[in-house]
Amino acid sequence: MTAMLEIRGLEINYGHIEAVRGVDMSLEAGQITALVGANGAGKSTTLLALSGLLPKARGSVLFEGEDITRLAPHQIVARGIVQVPEGRAILTTMTVRENLELGAYRRGRASVGDDLEYIFNLFPRLKERLQGVAGNLSGGEQQMLAIGRALMAKPRLLLLDEPSMGLAPIVVQEIFRAVRAINADGLTLFLVEQNVRQALKIAQKGYVLENGALALSGSGRELLGHPRVLEAYLGG
Ligand SMILES: Nc1ncnc2c1ncn2[C@@H]1O[C@H](COP(=O)(O)OP(=O)(O)O)[C@@H](O)[C@H]1O
Ligand SMILES: [Mg+2]
Repeated sequence: MTAMLEIRGLEINYGHIEAVRGVDMSLEAGQITALVGANGAGKSTTLLALSGLLPKARGSVLFEGEDITRLAPHQIVARGIVQVPEGRAILTTMTVRENLELGAYRRGRASVGDDLEYIFNLFPRLKERLQGVAGNLSGGEQQMLAIGRALMAKPRLLLLDEPSMGLAPIVVQEIFRAVRAINADGLTLFLVEQNVRQALKIAQKGYVLENGALALSGSGRELLGHPRVLEAYLGG
């Protein structure tokens, strides 16, 4: 099986600070791949570089066999790689509907209706709030909106940066259920999380990033049972 996304020897710097070094990862089509690690490990840096929003100092990224290492963000989005950024970044003064429609902007408006239905199925609360201003949504609803907006772009690979961050446990469960459902519908996901347990539970494959370098990799199940993961991330 050739991987959908192949990352080789990735290095990313902020000026003289080496944030990510020597990272090799591969994501299989149709799977959830988790990238977990502590705050400051370099997870967001990795996703931003994959989206073309940060320069890569070294290494290469192949998407479906094509070298996308040096492509600009809009070219990467055009390939179908769409990111839900950390902190959600929804447009708070616009309505829920307008936020969702913006997600479909690149595709034109032809088939937005059916796509909205898919998102309402996934997140019924967004339908109830459709005409409301996005800034009035709860944190969980804003995360749902951010994911919904990304789905409106019809991605082939969805990059999710800490979708559960700052949410109450019951809402976290809702978000992870939705992430699972999206994957069950066939979408390939790269899931960045500090919620190591939940992420590895739903991921077929996982990578553990520590101080900018890969510390471990394996199936989600293997990593969940790994002594180092248990000790460092799951409270012994
Ligand atoms: N804009 C920036 N300028 C300089 N250093 C940064 C910047 N953003 C992140 N860093 C540093 O890069 C490292 C990785 O950060 P980040 O990718 O945000 O980690 P994570 O997403 O895993 O919490 C950290 O040491 C962080 O302080
Ligand atoms: Mg981060």
